[in-house]
Amino acid sequence: MLYSPDEIRERFETFFQSLDYSHEPETLYEPVRYILSPGGKRIRPVLLLLATNIFSDEIDDSLLAAAGIEILHNFSLIHDDLMDNADMRRGIPTVHKRWNRNAAILAGDVMPMIACRFLSDIECTRRKQIMDLVLETFIGVCDGQQYDMDFENRNDVTTEEYIEMIRLKTSIVIAACLKAGALMGEASELDASLLYRFGEKIGLAFQLQDDLLDVYGDPVVFGKKIGGDILCNKKTYLYLSARACANAALHEELDRWGLYAGPDPQSKIDGVKAVYDALGVKEQSERLIGELFAEAMGVLDAVGAPTERKTILKKYVNSMMNRGK
Ligand code: IPE
Ligand code: IPE
Ligand code: MG
Ligand code: MG
Ligand code: MG
Repeated sequence: MLYSPDEIRERFETFFQSLDYSHEPETLYEPVRYILSPGGKRIRPVLLLLATNIFSDEIDDSLLAAAGIEILHNFSLIHDDLMDNADMRRGIPTVHKRWNRNAAILAGDVMPMIACRFLSDIECTRRKQIMDLVLETFIGVCDGQQYDMDFENRNDVTTEEYIEMIRLKTSIVIAACLKAGALMGEASELDASLLYRFGEKIGLAFQLQDDLLDVYGDPVVFGKKIGGDILCNKKTYLYLSARACANAALHEELDRWGLYAGPDPQSKIDGVKAVYDALGVKEQSERLIGELFAEAMGVLDAVGAPTERKTILKKYVNSMMNRGK
């Protein structure tokens, strides 16, 4: 059977919420249930299941793999919010705000173990390959997250370094979901690798878009506070593009805001955004997103599966890129 993304999302959510991992002490599992409760877009599990459905009518066996990766993703978010000092996610307080820092550290610690326990139960002849892929991927996420933090303190980050950092922290997870889904659906190694490459490009576009929405998004739809990246001195593509085309005066202004530690964070957000607006970096970022998107579609075309099945994935990825506007 061929499922729509909405049907897949619903099926996943029902399965996900029925998983049982809680026990005592309640104070540890309450924050875990909080972050895993409905509210996330569930992009990664939906992509994994859509990828399976391209090659197979049967997607049930992929639900556990999708759940494992969604738990790993949410672990990375809890710790990311600590590292990024973020108060809001999905329109509600982050775990460390709702409880405290230690609760967020430990909830984040236990989640990868819970995820791996589920992943090790996957019914698939390629289980070992999928486990290796997922574990390798989340080691990469940690590498990417460290680069992201290291870059906060550097002023000489190149665009290439930025792209590699977001490839690691974000895009390889999207890529791994698509590849794992394809492997679960008995796709050939070649098609599974093509879907990985497709996912890498989509993932880069997705993080570029996330960075763009962090400045220009609607906070109600985006669910996070606007301007968080500016306050952390994140070296986003917007920022790097601004530095690359700023004249001496605007360059100095960016440097000044980078050092700002005064009482009015909103003035820093507004000040940096004004520089971005003056230099048109939003449009530059949108152009790159468009290019990556087009490249991704070219890779998907090469996948050996019926066009009708690939079109569902294409449409979903399109809608995924129109979030939060
Ligand atoms: C947030 O991912 C982290 C990034 C890679 C930008 P999502 O935007 O997919 O977050 P949820 O799970 O839907 O909340
Ligand atoms: C985080 O990127 C990616 C991971 C969680 C690995 P961001 O820091 O931009 O994600 P958000 O904006 O907080 O969701
Ligand atoms: Mg971050
Ligand atoms: Mg963050
Ligand atoms: Mg972000």
